[in-house]
Amino acid sequence: MMPVKFGIIGCGAIAQRRHIPELAGNPDAKVVALCDPVPGRAAELAKKFGGQPFTCHKEMLAEADLDAVVVCGPNWLHASQTLDALKAGKHVLVEKPMACTRAEAKAMIAAAKKAGKFLMVGQNQRLMSAHQKAKQILKTGVLGKVLTFRTSFKHPGPDGWSVDGAKSWFFRKNEAVMGVTGDLGVHKADLMRWLLGQEFTSVSAVITALDKRTPDGKILQLDDNAYLLLKTTGGIVGSVEISWTNYGMEDNMTVIYCQKGVMYLGTDREYGVIVQYRNGNKELHKVGEMSTNTKQVGSGVSTAFTRSILAGKKPEIDGMEGYRSLDVILTAMESAKAGKTLKIAN
Ligand SMILES: NC(=O)c1ccc[n+]([C@@H]2O[C@H](COP(=O)([O-])OP(=O)(O)OC[C@H]3O[C@@H](n4cnc5c(N)ncnc54)[C@H](O)[C@@H]3O)[C@@H](O)[C@H]2O)c1
Repeated sequence: MMPVKFGIIGCGAIAQRRHIPELAGNPDAKVVALCDPVPGRAAELAKKFGGQPFTCHKEMLAEADLDAVVVCGPNWLHASQTLDALKAGKHVLVEKPMACTRAEAKAMIAAAKKAGKFLMVGQNQRLMSAHQKAKQILKTGVLGKVLTFRTSFKHPGPDGWSVDGAKSWFFRKNEAVMGVTGDLGVHKADLMRWLLGQEFTSVSAVITALDKRTPDGKILQLDDNAYLLLKTTGGIVGSVEISWTNYGMEDNMTVIYCQKGVMYLGTDREYGVIVQYRNGNKELHKVGEMSTNTKQVGSGVSTAFTRSILAGKKPEIDGMEGYRSLDVILTAMESAKAGKTLKIAN
């Protein structure tokens, strides 16, 4: 099966800036088909990267010779397009949030099992070099028990990122379903579950729409800021702050407070990981750069997925991992609506 033959469903920003170039640069993978309903969008990319262009994913699944697909269009289509691809016998890498409801996510996991195919979710925060280094350090135990954390992800919003700018699906409730909580919150829920090696048990959230507007000037029907307070199975407490209205420098920082010191991730441009020990010692770690909306760094997502397929080994960031991270943010949205702390089912 070398190289793994990929089809792309959705040829927008993430496909153009990340998945297609990363697959094209991977000798073990090949993009053989691409689809997008916007006339010419897939064809334009096919000219540059090769592959057969389509305007409908069903036609692509029926006609192209594919081993795997990347589902990377609007949120509301993730579940149905993943199910179509699994039914067609393809491995699926689906972008985050993997689905819009728990029922959809469960159906995707069940369909992958039934088809005997892999389902991976594009929760790429785990693969960033600073976060990989942090995980290694936490594992050694040098910092002792984790007590608390704070993590944030704040940028100016998807209008500066999406191929369709302010007219993007990101700002339409029926297609995005979730605002910043689903877009950036799920990244941080996933990162912290993985870094801490614990599940979240409860969440209290304040989620609001403050400033983002649709092209006709109306305030969004979706959230543009969210603040979550969380507790884990082991009693760690922490906060997640996410925003689409940070009009300054992108903020993608995490601080983990432990019994023997504090670890700072993404707080310093030169040193991606800084460890400040309680005894006064300090370690500065140079790691690879952190990806931002304006500067992409290889995400490693499709490379990991290709490796899984070739090795016949289940991806680490599988459907269940995607489900658990989605569950955290869905519960956070329910908490904000109810105005109270809610338990996370796990
Ligand atoms: N992992 C990450 O860091 C990351 C970053 C950005 C976006 N994403 C996710 O990737 C997905 C896509 O986001 P984006 O930034 O590329 O959005 P985008 O607006 O730039 O592109 C979306 C594309 O999907 C296409 N599309 C619409 N309907 C379609 C259909 N029926 N079939 C196929 N394609 C269709 C649109 O025409 C558009 O080209 C979202 O789920 C988003 O959350 C993930």
